[in-house]
Amino acid sequence: MSKENRSNFTGKLGFVLAAAGSAVGLGNIWRFPYLAAKYGGGIFLLVYIVLAVTLGFALMAAEIAIGRKTGLSAIGAFKALDKKYSFLGWLAALIPVIILPYYSVIGGWVMKYLFAFATGNGALAAGDDYFGGFITQTGQPLMWFLLFIGITALIVLLGVEKGVEKVSKIMMPVLVFLSLIIAIYSIFMPGAMDGVLYYILPDFSKFSATTVLAAMGQLFYSMSLAMGIMITYGSYMKKDVNLESSVGQIELFDTGVAFLAGLMIIPAVFVFSGGTPEALGKGPSLMFVTLPKVFETMWGGQIIGVAFFVLVLFAALTSSISLMETVVSIVCDKCKISRNLSCLIVFVASLVLGMLSIFGYGIWSHITIIGLQFLDFFDFISNSVLMPVVAFLTCIFVGYVIKPQPLIDEIELSAKFKRKKVFIFVIKYLAPVCIVLILISSMLDAFGIFKI
Ligand code: PHE
Repeated sequence: MSKENRSNFTGKLGFVLAAAGSAVGLGNIWRFPYLAAKYGGGIFLLVYIVLAVTLGFALMAAEIAIGRKTGLSAIGAFKALDKKYSFLGWLAALIPVIILPYYSVIGGWVMKYLFAFATGNGALAAGDDYFGGFITQTGQPLMWFLLFIGITALIVLLGVEKGVEKVSKIMMPVLVFLSLIIAIYSIFMPGAMDGVLYYILPDFSKFSATTVLAAMGQLFYSMSLAMGIMITYGSYMKKDVNLESSVGQIELFDTGVAFLAGLMIIPAVFVFSGGTPEALGKGPSLMFVTLPKVFETMWGGQIIGVAFFVLVLFAALTSSISLMETVVSIVCDKCKISRNLSCLIVFVASLVLGMLSIFGYGIWSHITIIGLQFLDFFDFISNSVLMPVVAFLTCIFVGYVIKPQPLIDEIELSAKFKRKKVFIFVIKYLAPVCIVLILISSMLDAFGIFKI
């Protein structure tokens, strides 16, 4: 191999790992399994994979190509390609502002569990009422949230993303390895087979528009799409790095970790709670309620529990850093203020929004918006409303305003674009039609007008 090829490879690995660091996070380990459990198991998995290789692939390739072509982050990039569309960059930039606070609240939950396991209280954490008892308090969740977002802000402030990247190279493979061990253990627990089958075999009678909706929202969230993050990452990508195969690798990494997380958690739900619809539909608490029970029965479970929550915390931090970094750099550029000051502003604003999410489960649990508590509402508005809207407009922008060709040329700078036809078809037809249909049904569903 020539020297040049080697340096290309290193450049690509760095890019893929950085993007995967943003993509792999709580979305994969906490959100994917509870959605898969709730929306029919195997059928959700199948729909998710089909969407990932079509919609996910095309959108990610488009975003990275927009970033690399313009060399700018979201707001500047859309503006540079067409002045009338700079609003799209702004809309995309709004999404991390909404996600960061509640993401950090959940990051705080992870820290709390890590602390419980590290101090020998794993058995306590495996109790049925532990999670509910914890999130309905005020002081405890607030303290852990502050710690999580404080660490995130500190890293962003110190600008040690480079260090994070280096640590990623070790932590990410360890995360995959540990997940594999826990998943294998989970599969072989007595009574787990029903859960494995539920998760792997698609039951087509459970297919519905809601399944597609949930899978699509999850796809955008998990791959950090439709919020300008991949545009920014693309702007750092070298022109000779193979864009198409990088997208394939990020996708594989992201989907692989999500798949393993489901394999750790869903069979365990069958073992400990009998796989009833109520147990499977538990929602956001699923990971926190089920996994401690697995560790409890495992030989060396205390240590595995600590190791596991350290890695989840790490995956969550690399994602929250990328979220905060995006918001800080926008505030910095647009308000023409120093990085430190914009970091402080973002930190304070996130504290206020994050507190809403915390109180929404506790002292303010009587307050709901369209029937949702604050945290769930923020999740809904970003994942089920804003992201599909931004994804739709991005497709229209690429498909009909600037046309796919300039981006195809950008992708072909490094290598032949093998999935070119899929790219064009998805961007111009499949994605816009699917997204609009799903957006309409999600709105009707949310406002209770029509249940699918
Ligand atoms: N993709 C991350 C996850 O799966 C979440 C995230 C979204 C991170 C958007 C950055 C930007 O957890």
